[in-house]
Amino acid sequence: MSMDKKWKTAISGIIDGEAHIHGYKVTELIDKIGFTDAIWLELKGELPTEKERAMLDGILISTIDNGLGPPSVTNARNSASAGNPMQASVAAGVLGVGDSHGGAIEECARLLQMGLTAEKLVEKVISSGDRIAGFGHKIYKDADPRATQIFEKAKKLGFYGEHCELTVAVEKVLEEKKGKKIPINVDGAIAAVVSDMGFDYRLGKGFFLIGRVVGLVAHIFEEMVREKPYRRIADEEIEYDGEPARKI
Ligand SMILES: CC(C)(COP(=O)(O)OP(=O)(O)OC[C@H]1O[C@@H](n2cnc3c(N)ncnc32)[C@H](O)[C@@H]1OP(=O)(O)O)[C@@H](O)C(=O)NCCC(=O)NCCS
Repeated sequence: MSMDKKWKTAISGIIDGEAHIHGYKVTELIDKIGFTDAIWLELKGELPTEKERAMLDGILISTIDNGLGPPSVTNARNSASAGNPMQASVAAGVLGVGDSHGGAIEECARLLQMGLTAEKLVEKVISSGDRIAGFGHKIYKDADPRATQIFEKAKKLGFYGEHCELTVAVEKVLEEKKGKKIPINVDGAIAAVVSDMGFDYRLGKGFFLIGRVVGLVAHIFEEMVREKPYRRIADEEIEYDGEPARKI
């Protein structure tokens, strides 16, 4: 094998004229494994155990769709409404993901993987005036049911480890500091479990994107076949509060 080529990858390649992923022939993967197994293989380099597959399945399902409201889906549907093709509208939807939408998994996992105690972690973030990613919710003020479900599944499958425990400890310290409960949200639970499954925090947004693209494709298709083109915000919902009309 030549070692001096400019582009190198250990993920996939052509061996004896056939595509392989981490050494497994794609044709054999098509025959023998499921999609979530293939995602795990692509990201981790090995096939998952049954428990690992089941846990990743749950995580990905939680990211697929939570309604038309969030920026990823509205971006995608607005783009489709303007007459753009599928790939452009998926790209528009992906650009609707950011630090405030889907981005908390990465930041929370980064904090959890720093090796700090719960007290130090809370102190570090709060003293700089920031909010701790993965905690708090606009609607769920006591517990985010998606986070509860993910932790329950992690316990059942044996992935409730030190990062999950740290997350619960952070929730307690945060409650003491703030005088009210700021519950672990779905992003925080995912961050804790993927950390306990040995994933690098920099894959955090990746988990959200892998699942969310499924939802984007479905929403874009529905926009194409169900709605009239050129969706726009109704005038009653728009308020102009700039300069009154004036002359040059
Ligand atoms: C999700 C979020 C925007 C909800 O905000 P909200 O509805 O304004 O939150 P609440 O009204 O319940 O609480 C506001 C108070 O709690 C504090 N608070 C809320 N979430 C906090 C967090 N994650 N870390 C620290 N403090 C937090 C605020 O600083 C504020 O405190 P104050 O009253 O002393 O100013 C917010 O919790 C947040 O930014 N979380 C972090 C980002 C995140 O995880 N996003 C993914 C959501 S699924």
